Amino acid sequence: MVSFSDKDAAYLPRHIAIIMDGNGRWAQKRGMLRVKGHQEGANAVITTIETCARLGIKTLSLFAFSSENWKRPPSEVNALMQLLAKALKKQTPILHQNGIKVRVLGDLKALKPSLQESISYTQNLTENNLGLKLNIAINYGGKWDIVQACKKLALKVRDGDLDLERIDEELFNHALVLDEGVDLLIRTGGERRISNFLLWQCAYSEFYVTDLLWPDFNEQALFDAIDYYLSRERRFGMTSEQIKEISNGN
Ligand code: IPE
Ligand code: IPE
Ligand code: MG
Repeated sequence: MVSFSDKDAAYLPRHIAIIMDGNGRWAQKRGMLRVKGHQEGANAVITTIETCARLGIKTLSLFAFSSENWKRPPSEVNALMQLLAKALKKQTPILHQNGIKVRVLGDLKALKPSLQESISYTQNLTENNLGLKLNIAINYGGKWDIVQACKKLALKVRDGDLDLERIDEELFNHALVLDEGVDLLIRTGGERRISNFLLWQCAYSEFYVTDLLWPDFNEQALFDAIDYYLSRERRFGMTSEQIKEISNGN
């Protein structure tokens, strides 16, 4: 089992987000149907959750189905939805036993009522858990998130419950479905794009891309991504000298 030194452990990313891409190619390379790749990808999800929980990562956000993925052939969309429903049912007791707090991010109204019910059940059951915060993005789009936040705030202004001048980045942040910035954004499958994932939340994340296809993503691959993160100097607009002064406590 790989692990980090005590020194590195203090600097681990608090929030890891993953664009889990490459399931289809994984299956096609083996002459299998794309859906087999999605099934296999579910195992990589479990390993990743377990590893993040063990490392004490605070939040893990996984992109499972984007608002654009509805454009796929209906048979693939159906298979994905069934897989998500099955995995959620099967994993909920295990996640709960491990103190994991599950939230599903996205426009859930478009999902089947039975899936919406499973999501509510899992979220309610795990709501008070204090371990890893696991966010699963289903029918999620970063643009949708920003628009729904705008609407929420606009409604309050219209009803006289919010003064327009009070809207700032912090208030807006809290209107999003996820108000925690991403430290490390991982994308498997080699593409160097964000594909409408957590647009606002990734404003200052470190971006790690690997050619590994999602079903092949394992504990070592996660450690490699975290190692990359640990090697970066996060400057947030400042100079390297300023950052060094801050970390020396000056
Ligand atoms: C990611 O794998 C899973 C989802 C988008 C749901 P893909 O299905 O996009 O796999 P590739 O990119 O076609 O290989
Ligand atoms: C991004 O992967 C969405 C998920 C991983 C759920 P896609 O395969 O849909 O991304 P594009 O279409 O290549 O940008
Ligand atoms: Mg893809």
